[in-house]
Amino acid sequence: MAVEYITSRNMISLIYETMRVMNVSVAHHGVRVGYIMAKLLEGRGSYEKYEIADFMILAMLHDIGAFKTDDVRKQLTYEAKRTLPHSIYGYLFLKYLSPFQERSKMILYHHMDYTKTKDLDYRYRFELELLKIAEMMDIWYKAFGDKFEYSMINKYAGTKFDPEAVALMDRVIQEDDFFAKIRSNTFGQEVDEYEDYVLLSDEEKEKYLKMLMYFTGLKDESMVSETISVIAVSRELVRKLGLNENDKNEVYYAALLHDIGMLAIPNQLLNAPRTLNEEEKNLIKTHVEIMEHMLEGKISDSIIKIAAAHHERFDASGYPKGLKGSYMSNKDAILQISEYVVNAMREKPYRGAHTKNEIIDNINNGIITGRYDAIVADMFLKNYDDIIELAEDKADMALMMYQKLLRNYKQVYNSLV
Ligand SMILES: [Fe+2]
Ligand SMILES: [Fe+2]
Ligand SMILES: [Fe+2]
Repeated sequence: MAVEYITSRNMISLIYETMRVMNVSVAHHGVRVGYIMAKLLEGRGSYEKYEIADFMILAMLHDIGAFKTDDVRKQLTYEAKRTLPHSIYGYLFLKYLSPFQERSKMILYHHMDYTKTKDLDYRYRFELELLKIAEMMDIWYKAFGDKFEYSMINKYAGTKFDPEAVALMDRVIQEDDFFAKIRSNTFGQEVDEYEDYVLLSDEEKEKYLKMLMYFTGLKDESMVSETISVIAVSRELVRKLGLNENDKNEVYYAALLHDIGMLAIPNQLLNAPRTLNEEEKNLIKTHVEIMEHMLEGKISDSIIKIAAAHHERFDASGYPKGLKGSYMSNKDAILQISEYVVNAMREKPYRGAHTKNEIIDNINNGIITGRYDAIVADMFLKNYDDIIELAEDKADMALMMYQKLLRNYKQVYNSLV
């Protein structure tokens, strides 16, 4: 599928923005580590610019596993003792769900001492050594503030860090004290310049966009299986209604990204096993506007418009804008029906799953009152069983993927302890 809807540059901004929504400190730490990584690679001198940019993105994401395995705030303190869980989860997450492939293994080893990594038979071993230095420079800088000195890194050459990598750091800093720019927080422009080098293929963009959706699984895996079901239902409706290729793609990306604003909503609210009060409900509703903000200016407006209307209803009873049907298209209607159906058919912490009859009654009722677009809703009702079966299959496949990831996690864990 051609991804002409987002540029490489904006893809990177969107990844960063998504990290920021999840946790500002982790995002900032990631960018600083990415910047140091880029400077070290550049200093080494044997990389193409786009390669440097790719490693910078990987470094930006190096602590992504912590969102699953840790209280993320702790990951940034240098006392963080148990570094294995977030390293393993981050590695597997990126291996399965990002375009990084072999390079994702760098994340597995990013807290491991040189004495253990030096004999690894691994293509990116030296880059890994640089990532470890970049990681510790920033963690120690945060811990010691102005008292942080490069000699702290030097002291561990040969034990924690690769002596060759430490020597490279020394040389690069002597030529251009990039860390001073971190201290004065003036490195942003250089990061921007590196980001300009990023050159992603359509396939990579597609994978990154999916990866952002998978970020929601770091909070709650059922959010991923739900989104995957929504994609399946909407894709069937698109096909049955005969939408053209462009509309089909727009609905697909809107379905993929429609709930990424949930990344900003506290976990306690998302999984509360009770009915939420008004204030809490309103907080959850902000996920739509948060998503709009995240995507604004980065991905094509027509996709944002569809995604932003997924809780709107044709009789203006939806949110956040209370838009009327005359302002919406059949693409909006498709995502609305898909989202409603998938939500209704699933059990929630605060209620059971709705039955087939309840769902059909609700939709029929919604057609009469004008809540749902009649053509789209009718098409769904006509194909109820087939579409639901497909949605359930896709959700099962997503959950199986997580089970596989978990099994892998245990294997890797046992092999390392
Ligand atoms: Fe880190
Ligand atoms: Fe880490
Ligand atoms: Fe939503």
